[in-house]
Amino acid sequence: MCGIIGYIGCQNAADVVFKGLKRLEYRGYDSAGIAVIVGNKLQIRRSVGKLCNLEKELKRDPINSNIGIGHTRWATHGKPSEENAHPHTDSTNSIVIVHNGIIENYAELKLKLQKEVRKFSSETDTESIVHLIKKHYDKDLFKAVLKTLKELKGSYALGVICKDEPNKIVCARQDAPLIIGIGKGENFIASDVSALLPYTRNMIFLENGDVAEITEDKVVVKNIENSIQSREIKNIKWNAMQSEKNGYKHFMLKEIFEQPRTIEDTFRDRIYPDDGKVCIEEVKFKEEDIIKISSIYVVGCGTAYHAGLVSKFLFENFAKIPTEVDVASEFKYRNPILNNKVLVIVVSQSGETADTLAALRLAKKNGCQTLAVCNIVGSSISREATYTIYTHCGPEIGVASTKAFTGQLAVFYMLALDLASKKRTLTNKELKRYLKELWEVPLKVNKFLSIAETVNDIAKFFEHKKNFLYLGRHVNYPLALEGALKLKEISYIHAEGYAAGEMKHGPIALIDEFMPVVAIAIKSKIYEKIISNIEEVKARGGVVIAIAHDGDKKIASKSDHVIYVPSTDEFISPIITAIPLQLFAYYISVSLGCDVDQPRNLAKSVTVE
Ligand code: M6R
Repeated sequence: MCGIIGYIGCQNAADVVFKGLKRLEYRGYDSAGIAVIVGNKLQIRRSVGKLCNLEKELKRDPINSNIGIGHTRWATHGKPSEENAHPHTDSTNSIVIVHNGIIENYAELKLKLQKEVRKFSSETDTESIVHLIKKHYDKDLFKAVLKTLKELKGSYALGVICKDEPNKIVCARQDAPLIIGIGKGENFIASDVSALLPYTRNMIFLENGDVAEITEDKVVVKNIENSIQSREIKNIKWNAMQSEKNGYKHFMLKEIFEQPRTIEDTFRDRIYPDDGKVCIEEVKFKEEDIIKISSIYVVGCGTAYHAGLVSKFLFENFAKIPTEVDVASEFKYRNPILNNKVLVIVVSQSGETADTLAALRLAKKNGCQTLAVCNIVGSSISREATYTIYTHCGPEIGVASTKAFTGQLAVFYMLALDLASKKRTLTNKELKRYLKELWEVPLKVNKFLSIAETVNDIAKFFEHKKNFLYLGRHVNYPLALEGALKLKEISYIHAEGYAAGEMKHGPIALIDEFMPVVAIAIKSKIYEKIISNIEEVKARGGVVIAIAHDGDKKIASKSDHVIYVPSTDEFISPIITAIPLQLFAYYISVSLGCDVDQPRNLAKSVTVE
C-alpha cells in the first residue's frame, strides 16, 4: 500500500517522479504529492484523489529541479485530505519525506515532539518521522536519519531530502519494499521495479535494516549502525512495455488477454509431457525431504488464497499429501500445528502482503520447510522463503488479480505432479496425460478468448442486478469463490460463492428472479450433482448462467444462459473456468462505469496488517 519514488540526476525530477507515480498508482490512489528542491527551498505540490488532480496542480504551478521525491497514498492514519497527503515536512520546511508503512509508536513520539513545541499539521503517523529527523539534524541528513530510525517501531520504506543538502536522497527500508535504480549520471528509488523500467533495468533490492545515501553518481548502502553493506545490482528482465496498456481500455482486460502467454511462460522449460517429467529448477527438495513431508499448509490472501484452495485437491489427489489451506490473517493467530515435517507454501503475487509474510515467518520459526509461489522477483516473501517458484506473468497492474491467479494455478499443477512423480503416487502414463492436458491449456485459453464478446453479451442482461450467487463443486468450488470476489471488488455488486451442495443448507432461501446464479457445470465425475443443483435453482424461479464444456447439449435446456469453454480434465479445468469468470466481472464493471483497474478502497499490494 502506498507507492514512493525518488529521483536525482539531470532530468526534471518532477516529471520523472510524476511518471513513476503513474506506474505506482495501483498501490494506493486516494491522494498524491511531490516535493523538489529549488534553489535552497523546498517546493511541494499535493492533492487529494487520483493523480490527474496532482497533474493539474503541477500544470497550474510547475516545478523544475534535479532532485525530488513523490508518494501515492492509501490512507491508514488520517482520512484522504491534502493535509494528510505526503510528502510531509518539518515545521521549518527544511526536510521532507515520503513513507510507505506504519509507525506503530507514532502516538507516543508525537506526544513527546509536541511537548518540544514541534507543530504537527497532519493526522498521519509519518509526520512524527520528519520532526524527529529535524530534531536530530546537525548538518548531516544521513546521520539524522540513522538516529531517527533507532527510535521507530513499525514498518517503513522512506525517502528523505533536505534543502540544505540538495545533492542527495536518503532512503531506508524495514518491512516495506524499496528498490534503488542505477542509471548513468542519475539514480532512483521506488517501491517497485515497474516504476523505474523506462529508465533502467539495473536495480538494488534493499534489505530490511538498510539505509542508503544516493547522489547522482553514487549509491552507498549502510546498516543502522553506519556500517557499509554490499548489495548486488540485479538486471531485471521485464521491459517497460509490459507495464503499459498497449491499446487495451484497461489493464485488467489486457492482463486477461495475456493469459495464454503467461501460462505458457510459466510452464516453459518446466514440463515435458512426452517424458512425463516436471523439472522446476528453483525447488531443490531431495526425494528424502519429500518423503518426510507429512502435510502441507498453503497460505495466502484473497485470490492467492483461492488458488491455494485449488491446490489442496491437487496435492491430495495427485501426491497423496494431506493439505490444509488458510487465509494468512487467520493462520498466524490460530496456533497451527507446525514442525519440520510440514511444508508451508505461501502464495502471493506481490510477495509483499503483510499477513502472508507474517505466516511465512511463523512457519520458519517453527522449523517448517517453506516454499513461496510469487510473481515479483526480489520481493520480501521470495527472499525469505527457502525456495521460490516464480509465476512468469510480468507486472500485474490491475488491482483485480487475473493472470497472477492462473499463473499460481499453473505452478500448483506442476508442483503437485512433481511431488506425485517423486513419491510415485501417479503412474508415468497418468503423469503424461496430465502434463499433456496442461500443455494444451494456453491454446484452449486462447480459443476461448477469441469469443470473449459472448460473455459481454450475457453480462449485459445482468448489469443492474444487486446480488449474485456463484456455485461450484469439487475443484471448481474455489472458482465460485474467486468469481464472486472478482465481481464484488470491481463492480461493487454483492456476490457470494458457495459449494453447490451447501445450497439446501441455507442459501437456497435467497433464490428468486432477482438473484442470478452463476453455476460452474463442467463435465466431471459430479456433473450430474451440479445439474441437480441447477434444477433446484430453476424450480424456485432463479436465473442461471452456466459455465459448461463445449459440446454439452444438455446444459442449454437446464440454464438461461451458457458460456461454453474448451473441455479439459476436471482437475485441470479451474485454470480455464477462471477466464469467463474474470471476463464476466470485467464487462459488468465496465457497463456500470466503475473504475475497473483502481476500485474504491482497495490497493494492489496490502503491505499493512
Ligand atoms: O499480492 P498478493 O497475491 O499477496 O495479494 C493478495 C490479495 O490481496 C489479492 O489477491 C486481492 O485479493 C486481489 N485484489 C484480488 O483480485
